[in-house]
Amino acid sequence: MSRVVAVVLAAGVGKRMKSRVPKVLHALAGRPLLHYPIAAALAAGVDRVVVVVSPSTGEAIAAHAAQAFAGSAITVAVQEPPRGTGDAARIGLEALAPADDETVLVLCGDTPLVRESDLTPLLAASKSGVPLSLLSCIAADPTGYGRILRDAERRVTAIREHRDLAPGERGITEVNAGVYAGRAALFRAGLGSLSTDNDQGELYLTDVVAYAASRGPVEAVVGSSDALVGVNDRQQLAVAEAALFERIAERHRLNGVSVAAGARIDDGVAIGEDARIESHVHLRGRTRVGAGAIVDVGSVITDSEVLPGAIVKPYSVITESTVGEKAQIGPFSDARPRGLIETGAHVGNVVETKKTRLGPGAKANHLAYLGDGDVGSRANIGAGTIFCNYDGFQKHRTIIGDGAFIGSDSQIIAPITIGRGAYVGTGTTVTRDVPENALAISRVPQETKEGYASRLKARLAKRKQK
Ligand code: UD1
Ligand code: CA
Repeated sequence: MSRVVAVVLAAGVGKRMKSRVPKVLHALAGRPLLHYPIAAALAAGVDRVVVVVSPSTGEAIAAHAAQAFAGSAITVAVQEPPRGTGDAARIGLEALAPADDETVLVLCGDTPLVRESDLTPLLAASKSGVPLSLLSCIAADPTGYGRILRDAERRVTAIREHRDLAPGERGITEVNAGVYAGRAALFRAGLGSLSTDNDQGELYLTDVVAYAASRGPVEAVVGSSDALVGVNDRQQLAVAEAALFERIAERHRLNGVSVAAGARIDDGVAIGEDARIESHVHLRGRTRVGAGAIVDVGSVITDSEVLPGAIVKPYSVITESTVGEKAQIGPFSDARPRGLIETGAHVGNVVETKKTRLGPGAKANHLAYLGDGDVGSRANIGAGTIFCNYDGFQKHRTIIGDGAFIGSDSQIIAPITIGRGAYVGTGTTVTRDVPENALAISRVPQETKEGYASRLKARLAKRKQK
């Protein structure tokens, strides 16, 4: 097959987003908007991609491409100033310099729902000799999109932008999705012929269609209206993202994962078979959830690993941490970065961890702050324990040996080491290291005064009467 190159247009200003962030870098299911059309083009088999960017976005886009599509031939070309989609396509084409008989696929960087399956019919048309083909859709509301004009024989003759329509053309519902495929020679000639004779005074890529139609057939492949969703403002961004989350959920369900309605799973997340993802769960970034694991209602997991059989109970927040096999966390727990909860360990209700390891089978079941700690296997951390890791200047580590027992409401003042098998009595403020198998207790001895409560109450009652 002759080679195929793709030009992705992403240099527009994106004014309608009303944002300091360039439109194509806005996130959508955990990836920049622009990621999706590039991924679709690569999946459809293009050999080289150029992304046409503005001077201010070039660096960020090149960095994303290098990281997300390592090994693929992706370059950027700068368009300055943005003089329209036709000008952008010409700049992309010059950068790639394909041979005359190579196929060029042109996509917009702001149509994230375009799929590989939308592109293959266009590439097939090009392969079979159609000089230019494009993707169209029937839109329930065509407002804002370019319309496909056809003659009496239904042959495509031109695309007319919404704002340039004649009154009689307003009713046309077949619209341009902004994806085109054709021979490099045709694009070069067509793009060279463009003028700015339109309402916006821009060079319109869409005018290549009239150019091609006057010289040969143009094929409009009617695709799903999904592919059309162009993101121009934040409302359309939200609509596109909802569609993408639904698509991602469907993909996981068909792979054997139970995903409740309302879960939001980023595109880069991996989930094993028989895992269960409940509603209002957000799985973000590069999170991995192992087979059979459960992530219950309302949990937010970012760039973390939940290993097979683990249970994340409702409303837990896990960030850059690992929850080991068959371990449990939550409800209402906060595992801050660099947490490691090893096999079978339990982190319970309202427990905050930060840079802390809990060894296999260790437990911290209720209300604790465990910062900068290392908790040995099968150690038990009582309710209300605090690792006092910060002296106002530096953070210090708390080391707790295997099988140690920390009584409730203890404060462990770091840096400190508590030996394996040691016992810390309830309510102790631990200020010095505790050797293996020792008991540490700091507690004011209890005093009991027989009958004192009755006498006290009588005295207080009398005072109130006065
Ligand atoms: C474009 C099409 C319209 C189609 C719609 C589909 C044109 C003239 N119109 O309109 O027929 O229905 O897409 O979504 O092509 N860009 C540049 N440089 C520029 C201008 C734009 O790189 O100078 C990029 C933008 O970043 C964007 C893409 O081209 O990714 C489309 O530009 P946009 O201004 O959004 O075009 P639409 O008005 O949506
Ligand atoms: Ca657009």
